Amino acid sequence: MFPNNNCTNNSAQTRPNLTCPVCSASHLPLKGSLANGVYACTCENCGHFFKFKALQDIRTTATFKVNGKDYTVGNEFTPSTTLNTFLRSKGISKGTKGMCYEGGCGVCLVAVTLYAPIRMKQIHYTVNSCLLELFSCDGMDITTIEGIGDPKHGLHPIQEQLAKHDGAQCGYCSPSQVMNMYGLLKVKPKPTVQDVEDYFDSTVCRCTGYRPILDAMKTFCKDAPPHLEKVQVDIEDLDAKLCKKTGNLCTGHCHSNIGAHTNKDSDNQTAGPVHIVGASAQWLKPTSMDQLLSLLKQHSQDNYRLVFGNTGFGVYPKYSAANYDVLIDTRNVMDLYGIDFDPVIVMGANLSLHNLWELFDRTQTDPSIPYGHAFSEHIKYIASTGVRNMACWAGNLMLKYLQPDFPSDIFLLFESIGSSLVIYDGDGNMIKTSLTDFLKMDMKGKVIAAVEFPTYGTQDIYIRTYKRGLRLQQCVAYVNAAFNFQLDAKTNYTVKKKPTILFGGISSTKIHAEATEQYLTGKALGDPLTLKGALATLEKELVPEPGYFNASYRKALALSLFYKYVLDVCKVKASPAYVSGGLGLTRTPVVGTQDYGTKPEEFPVSKPMPKLSANYLTSGTAQFIDDLAGPPGMLFAVPVLSTIASGSLDSIDPTQALEIPGVVAFLKASDIPAGGVNNWRPKGIYNNAVEELLSSGPINYAGQPIGIIVADNRETATAAAEKVKITYKDVKTPIVTIQDAIKKQSFHPDPPKPLVIGDAKAAIAAAPHNVLGQIECGEQYHFHMETQSALCIPTDEGGMDVIASTQWLDGVLETVAQVLGIEQSQVTVETKRLGGGFGGKISQNFLISGLCALASGVLGLPVKMHLDIHANMKMCGMRNAYFMTYTIGCDDSGKLLGIEADLFPDLGFSTIEGGGDLTPWLDNAYYCPNWLVSFQQLKTNKAMGTACRAPGSTPAIFFMESMIEHVARYLGKDELAVRQANLYVNGQKTITQRVLQYCTLKDVVAKHVTDTNYTQRKADIELFNKNNRWKKRGLALMPNMFGISWFGGMYTTQLMVYHGDGSVAIAHGGIDMGQGINTKVIQVCAYELNIPMEKIRVKKSSTVNNANSATSGGSITSELACKGVIECCKILTKRMAPVKESMQSPTWEELVAKCYEEQIDMTVSYMTHPANENYQYMCFSAATVEAEIDVLTGQYQFPQMDMLYDCGDSMNPELDIGQAEGGFIMGMGYHLTEQIVYDEETGQILNAGTWNYKPPLPKDLPMKFNFKFQRNATNPLGVLGSKAVAEPALTMSTAALLAVKHAVESARADAGQKDFFALNAPATPEKVQRFCKTTIDQYTFGK
Ligand SMILES: Cc1cc2nc3c(=O)[nH]c(=O)nc-3n(C[C@H](O)[C@H](O)[C@H](O)COP(=O)(O)OP(=O)(O)OC[C@H]3O[C@@H](n4cnc5c(N)ncnc54)[C@H](O)[C@@H]3O)c2cc1C
Ligand code: FES
Ligand code: FES
Repeated sequence: MFPNNNCTNNSAQTRPNLTCPVCSASHLPLKGSLANGVYACTCENCGHFFKFKALQDIRTTATFKVNGKDYTVGNEFTPSTTLNTFLRSKGISKGTKGMCYEGGCGVCLVAVTLYAPIRMKQIHYTVNSCLLELFSCDGMDITTIEGIGDPKHGLHPIQEQLAKHDGAQCGYCSPSQVMNMYGLLKVKPKPTVQDVEDYFDSTVCRCTGYRPILDAMKTFCKDAPPHLEKVQVDIEDLDAKLCKKTGNLCTGHCHSNIGAHTNKDSDNQTAGPVHIVGASAQWLKPTSMDQLLSLLKQHSQDNYRLVFGNTGFGVYPKYSAANYDVLIDTRNVMDLYGIDFDPVIVMGANLSLHNLWELFDRTQTDPSIPYGHAFSEHIKYIASTGVRNMACWAGNLMLKYLQPDFPSDIFLLFESIGSSLVIYDGDGNMIKTSLTDFLKMDMKGKVIAAVEFPTYGTQDIYIRTYKRGLRLQQCVAYVNAAFNFQLDAKTNYTVKKKPTILFGGISSTKIHAEATEQYLTGKALGDPLTLKGALATLEKELVPEPGYFNASYRKALALSLFYKYVLDVCKVKASPAYVSGGLGLTRTPVVGTQDYGTKPEEFPVSKPMPKLSANYLTSGTAQFIDDLAGPPGMLFAVPVLSTIASGSLDSIDPTQALEIPGVVAFLKASDIPAGGVNNWRPKGIYNNAVEELLSSGPINYAGQPIGIIVADNRETATAAAEKVKITYKDVKTPIVTIQDAIKKQSFHPDPPKPLVIGDAKAAIAAAPHNVLGQIECGEQYHFHMETQSALCIPTDEGGMDVIASTQWLDGVLETVAQVLGIEQSQVTVETKRLGGGFGGKISQNFLISGLCALASGVLGLPVKMHLDIHANMKMCGMRNAYFMTYTIGCDDSGKLLGIEADLFPDLGFSTIEGGGDLTPWLDNAYYCPNWLVSFQQLKTNKAMGTACRAPGSTPAIFFMESMIEHVARYLGKDELAVRQANLYVNGQKTITQRVLQYCTLKDVVAKHVTDTNYTQRKADIELFNKNNRWKKRGLALMPNMFGISWFGGMYTTQLMVYHGDGSVAIAHGGIDMGQGINTKVIQVCAYELNIPMEKIRVKKSSTVNNANSATSGGSITSELACKGVIECCKILTKRMAPVKESMQSPTWEELVAKCYEEQIDMTVSYMTHPANENYQYMCFSAATVEAEIDVLTGQYQFPQMDMLYDCGDSMNPELDIGQAEGGFIMGMGYHLTEQIVYDEETGQILNAGTWNYKPPLPKDLPMKFNFKFQRNATNPLGVLGSKAVAEPALTMSTAALLAVKHAVESARADAGQKDFFALNAPATPEKVQRFCKTTIDQYTFGK
């Protein structure tokens, strides 16, 4: 209880606590029991009814606004309830999504307006609603995507721009992208392009490749590039479009909605304390330092924690509010917001990371704060905008305190300048301490109140800080470092006093490099011998602890960061070629060009236009499965997953889970109903192969489903799933790496027959040159932003209706029927849209829908399942990893004569998903007359690999390009010359034995070489590399031939014309997962029937209208769905023809009405049934990427990429270019940063989440991002002259890895290593640094 809020009971006796006057049981105020300052209740211990009068008003609820509406919440929620859960479960915001629930994906952003004490006014922030506690929202004014506009009432300008610029493909991330920009415009109505790029670090978009999102947002910038139509918005326009009073379109008569009521609300924020008592925990919100200290004293021995932003929970789930009995919210303690500049800088503990950045940003040029610039640049890259807005620096330090191995950036910065902390204990005693001593203190019952930063009176302070991670934005550091030296530049940079040298990510206990600090004191840093000595000392004293990131890389990185610092501050000592080592990589904002042709005579076909659903996606009104309210009584299911990878079940005990209020059931394999089978692989697709839905005993991989918890909400079900106790027996050390599997000869039996073309062995034996090598690539997680989901509703006649996030309705139908033991016709499956699929929802959703249907079928109730990212990554298969050894026979020019390869696909525990045959794409664009490819399919204790956007082709093309590079290096020839020597020409037979027609490869490559100014740029790069030892550049150009196979593309299309108004509805068998299939289908239908597009709608795909349709995938579904529509239109036109002939130039509506009168059937159905087993056609394209690497750290960036893509006559170039861009960026992730890491003991994925698995973010994009579609490239074998897109574009991202490799080659040459090396994918900075072969003896001034 609040000590200053003493209460009086009805006998007017003053008591320090709410204690029952009869039994003395400690009592806490409950919601609703405090009214008008009088607390009245019945003692829960003895039943005595008693009253207290509160001397100060204590609120037992939290009050806030969402989109202008007031909400009051109390102990009907637990203190661990997040704002995201509240918004979504109460149906207040469906546009605010949830996916990772740890701050890492950014789909949950909302804008909050809250009183900022340092500014003494309301401030607007975007925040991650999945981290913000519901009770923390007390006094806040929250705006969700629904609050700013929608298609019905009018779109907000940001929603409009995002839609217009094709920034929404699947649309799952779109509301968050909008809210992020909304937050930026609120704080900075006239931002710069740079502001936009800096701000967009919170939300991952897996579809678009970000360029269209950034373009849309840059239209609001004062320096918007000329090709973007600048949007002039005044401040009022930035407010919500919807009137929060009337719910209608804003008329502009009242004041701005946001902020209009906020001054008043700040009263609430600073109003009296809050005390909410829940069943398992209590929430306290003091409003003064005295109250806070008393609470700390009172609860110091309890299981308590302080809460500010609650973002620490995103890093370490164990600090979830759910694990504490007492939570103390410090947000309203105004004393903790203080800022002072005289005599030292003091900053209160409640200042956010954003506030901290603002302070340092403003003081960048202040000579007394020589760390201002370094700190502001550093803080910009801590976490993400949403997190920095909410999190306080004190919380960050406490994470370091609690988890000493946490490479806290804040700790590093503060310690580098010798800051001191001001800490209070519960008795009000102030303790002033250094940061290192703080780590050793007992912090029970204490609070960090402030930090003191020194100011400097001299000009000779050189402070630099560094942070290097797998990705630039929102990424924890491999290693971070800070250096603070006082130097005398005139005396060869003499170190005037003991310097500060700090490293994070090396050791949890040793942060200072003390020996090196000592060594350098008094020495001349500009002296080469000092540098040498310092490096030797540092090398000796750095002992990296084992950790998630490779220890030797972390050590190498730490050493190179120190060297970087020395080069930077003593740059005059360095030779010109060495100076660049002192600098980082400099990014400029992304500039993208899109170049394509159209055929106006065929409009609307070929007309560039955004997705027709774009407005619904960007405004968040388009619903995904987890957004559906579902029928009353709907339950939530969460799978219980195995934590070992090889063994069998011993016992399962769900008792503890079932005791949790809200948990309804636990289901296991034996609960599968009679008649049903424990197999989620549809018989019709997988030929009786079995993969158990729920393990009946055997465990094949960590993440395998063992049971299902069903509860009345997702959070309860998730928490309960953790409490199911499972023991295992016969546990074996799993095989989780390719090399281990090869070593242990762990192969699946019956590998596919070798591919034999010609006589490779003889050709190689006779060839002038033999090149031998090996190459490897890892897995890739799909990272669909909408994770696997299903909603199952039992029908009243024993069947099951399923809404599934699947790419393959038919497979879900079969799985559900076979698991439940019912007829397939009793099941209906439908899908309206997916929040991304990328192949991961071809087969893997059968499992999720099967589990969900089982729960629903057994309980007879509607059940929803929506996996979080952790379960999604652990449970479902990913892109396969591969290894290949090869021998190439070639002539002097590099012409391929024969290739013999041994291919080792890592298939996981079974071959059910397929054999991992890459060979159809292994030739890429090159003719080789003789092939011998043998297979050994690796058996590992992992989930079975599955399709992932451009499966097979991506690794195959990467392997082929690597082989070509190897040949070029072996022969000492230019790699482009070797490529050109081998390019296919018409009449040659491909690896799939197709005789090439219409092959334009040579022309395409020649044009691309000219377009990109390749030759000159290559020469420029060579010069650059010659002049720079520590920065290197590389340029890689690759051709691409990509076979598109239609085989198996059976899609059923229904076209219905309504007689009353002539409007048309189409239900096609494809699934719109972002690629824009529905828009194209409408364009084509309008063209074929010669009616306006506005008359046509696309209905959801379902097993009722589109039975037996194939999976959507392989980039072919859009064109085949269009083909289905064309055929339907032809049938319809034929049926209507006689009626039309009997009329005189009828309008469409008249014709339809007449046909109806004449009883013409205007419902048409057609199933595509391509018979060609080989490729239908080929796409011939080329891409060039330029890379720049920091040799010292292994970091890279991409100044430019260009693609010349063969899309035939694109049906909608705007959408197709979006697919190409998005595919390319997903491929960059695959080739560079996305890596799955397994625990070799347990077989669990160590990075199943957003913390260490890093798909690209906007600052990973090439800075010049140019896409060009070939003109006049009609495809005679395609639909309306078009070709497929996305998958081929993805495979060309190999060029990014090769460009990095070329840069590394230059660095290696400087290091005296000219031998060939294979750069496996992903080429992480760690690998790049390692291959540059730098050693500390090379770390000199270069003179
Ligand atoms: C996605 C993501 C990315 C991140 N990336 C980085 C990164 O790159 N680098 C980095 O350094 N950090 C990173 N972080 C960590 C982040 O900076 C911290 O989570 C944040 O600063 C914690 O502040 P908070 O206000 O949210 O604290 P809370 O989560 O509310 O609290 C965290 C801990 O601090 C304690 N605490 C809070 N205030 C006080 C106080 N005044 N006195 C004493 N104890 C207190 C609490 O009791 C609790 O134990 C990241 C976090 C997330 C979620
Ligand atoms: S759900 Fe909030 S960041 Fe992922
Ligand atoms: S549009 Fe961004 S995730 Fe699909």
